[in-house]
Amino acid sequence: MRVLVTGGAGFIGSNVVKILEAKGAKVIVLDNFSHGSYKNLMDVKAEVICEDILSEDIFKKLPKIDGIIHEAAITDTTLIDNTKMMTVNYNGSKNILNFALKKKIPFTYASSAGVYGESNPPMREDKGLIPHNTYAYSKYIFDCHVQSLWAKKGTPSIVGLRYFNVYGPREYHKGLAASMIYQLFLQMKSGKRPRVFKYGEQKRDFIYVKDVANITVKALFSRKKAILNVGTGIPRSFNDIIAGLNKVLKKNLTPAYFNNPYADKYQNFTQADTKLLKKTLNTKAKYTLEKGISDYLQKHLL
Ligand SMILES: NC(=O)c1ccc[n+]([C@@H]2O[C@H](COP(=O)([O-])OP(=O)(O)OC[C@H]3O[C@@H](n4cnc5c(N)ncnc54)[C@H](O)[C@@H]3O)[C@@H](O)[C@H]2O)c1
Repeated sequence: MRVLVTGGAGFIGSNVVKILEAKGAKVIVLDNFSHGSYKNLMDVKAEVICEDILSEDIFKKLPKIDGIIHEAAITDTTLIDNTKMMTVNYNGSKNILNFALKKKIPFTYASSAGVYGESNPPMREDKGLIPHNTYAYSKYIFDCHVQSLWAKKGTPSIVGLRYFNVYGPREYHKGLAASMIYQLFLQMKSGKRPRVFKYGEQKRDFIYVKDVANITVKALFSRKKAILNVGTGIPRSFNDIIAGLNKVLKKNLTPAYFNNPYADKYQNFTQADTKLLKKTLNTKAKYTLEKGISDYLQKHLL
């Protein structure tokens, strides 16, 4: 089994590569290294193709492949070049999808909980789609494109995964776009009080990347056509993260609260409705926030 992973030098992509290789798959990473890091590929065997997902030439360089996991995207939601955001995330995704359609091979791709904006939780796949920025719109419009193909005869398995807030090993290269868990860890490890927006009770559905990678690989082999939420279904607060970090770091640092400058466009509460995920893939997240933080710190950061 040979699998192409786009964005394989990135956070989630490189975790996916690890799981695929552990299952005996041969992996080809396609990444232009615009944002990921070579360091994420130092402990995998994958063949690496440094190319853009917009390129037509990549398909000439590929050997026969049995499936595609498409993770490559511009992931900095604050990028103000809307043309670039749409070109890479929408046109680039279509370029890779078209190859999967032509070869009739399964295609699993990263969508985002961003498509729900501030709609009412728990967020369910078929309602409340109110993207609040161009990044979220690029994910939303690709989901719509995929759905328009399902009814066509001969369409291979396509699974879109709306990841919620992912955290875990191999995210350090993301800088300020890395998870809250990583940002707060850095502050607290250096002995500083953790800085969070007033009053730390904003809740998010945080999911550990090891769960995300396992679910993603399962989706590729599922032969389904679906768009699924990938979250724990349990929203947790920023204060909960601080408590979890304090416990593993054996510290007792209290939060330093400050005003949220993005209050008007901030997702204050996210929660995945995970029923469709369970029904379609017969799976769910296995790490609670506390277990995820403990695994992340003990095995990867400390
Ligand atoms: N991390 C999260 O919490 C989260 C949440 C929702 C959705 N997602 C989605 O999951 C996917 C993976 O995100 P991530 O957190 O691993 O991000 P990341 O930025 O670490 O990884 C993205 C990878 O794509 C590569 N890339 C970017 N543009 C490219 C192009 N034009 N051609 C080839 N490669 C290109 C980058 O170099 C990088 O290695 C993305 O599609 C993202 O939108 C992530």
